[in-house]
Amino acid sequence: MKKMLMALMVLVAAGSVVFAKGGSQSQSSGATPGDLVGIAMPETHVERWVKDGASLKRFAEARGMRAEVQFGNADQTQQNQQIQSFLTQGAKVLIIGCINDGVASVVTEAARGKVAVIAYDRIIPNSADYDYYLTFNNFKVGQLQGQGIETGLNLKAATADAPKYITLFAGSPTDGNAFFFYDGAMSVLNPYIDSGVLKVVGPYPKTSADTANFQRIATENWQAPIAKTRMENLLSGDAGDVVLDAILAPNDTLARGIIEACKADAKYRTKLPVVTGQDAEADSAVSIKNGEQYMTVFKDTNKLAEAAIILAEAIVRGQTPNIPGAILASGELAKIGDTGKKVVKAYLLDPVIVTRDNWQVPLNAGFYTEAEAARLK
Ligand code: BGC
Repeated sequence: MKKMLMALMVLVAAGSVVFAKGGSQSQSSGATPGDLVGIAMPETHVERWVKDGASLKRFAEARGMRAEVQFGNADQTQQNQQIQSFLTQGAKVLIIGCINDGVASVVTEAARGKVAVIAYDRIIPNSADYDYYLTFNNFKVGQLQGQGIETGLNLKAATADAPKYITLFAGSPTDGNAFFFYDGAMSVLNPYIDSGVLKVVGPYPKTSADTANFQRIATENWQAPIAKTRMENLLSGDAGDVVLDAILAPNDTLARGIIEACKADAKYRTKLPVVTGQDAEADSAVSIKNGEQYMTVFKDTNKLAEAAIILAEAIVRGQTPNIPGAILASGELAKIGDTGKKVVKAYLLDPVIVTRDNWQVPLNAGFYTEAEAARLK
């Protein structure tokens, strides 16, 4: 009897540990108490990663795991040290949004120690030492940006006698996503360029495969000051004699830098070009609502984070993951999971276009903090 009571007390105590960690309802899924999830995010200068880090930690803890988040400050050496520290602490799973292919060596270390790695949002290039990648349909993100420009400039009705002018920016050349974003956008814009309806000012890589020109429009480590300076140079150089109708900007952080540069130019004081973006950052949502930035792409990173933790839990338990809302990339899209050394399973979530007509979508999805939401009132 005494033994039974003791066993019961141990069970209750274990349960309460799980409960204290999880703190909420999702205990029914059964937790893996004590399992450490190491969460390595690339940077904080792009706001989304701060949100991603917080969401991943919250979902992991709600499922009874321990979680630690580190940000790599756009420096792969620093992120590798953070990942090594997760390994030393006995992490069971690593969720990595990497900075560049320099991450592959620590992914190999993890594999040697039988620690599972999930590439989060960004592929881990040049590695055959992991199996899972969770992201958005990044080609579609670009297509939505292209469609934003198509609608914003009414390209379907435009003619080559009165062409529209565009200048092109791409994301970081060390981030695999940047290529998909660009190619998605150009899949919509190239036909208009071919027919002379749309004219490119500055370098024109038809696709990201034109490496030399792609490098010229790329933005190292997604740094807004680099994009802003490039825009200023374009305004006083190649774009000096025209009025730009559109600017393909790959994300919101860069879009706002580019808009700042345009606003300082008298030509654009009353009418800004159609500028694209991505991430539905609060500052850009305000800008869209006010009619400045034309569009963004909403990627519900809360869903991505939750999916990553569901996947992490399934991996730790040796179960087949079932990720709600994600499709396993196949056919053409399977390329998204090509690391250059192997094709990993890529689970894709769906991005959504946001313009002045539907700026409420991310707000209604609970994407913003209270303070951010208040700015949109
Ligand atoms: C992400 C974008 C983000 C960019 C810069 C990309 O890999 O998919 O959401 O804006 O990195 O951090």
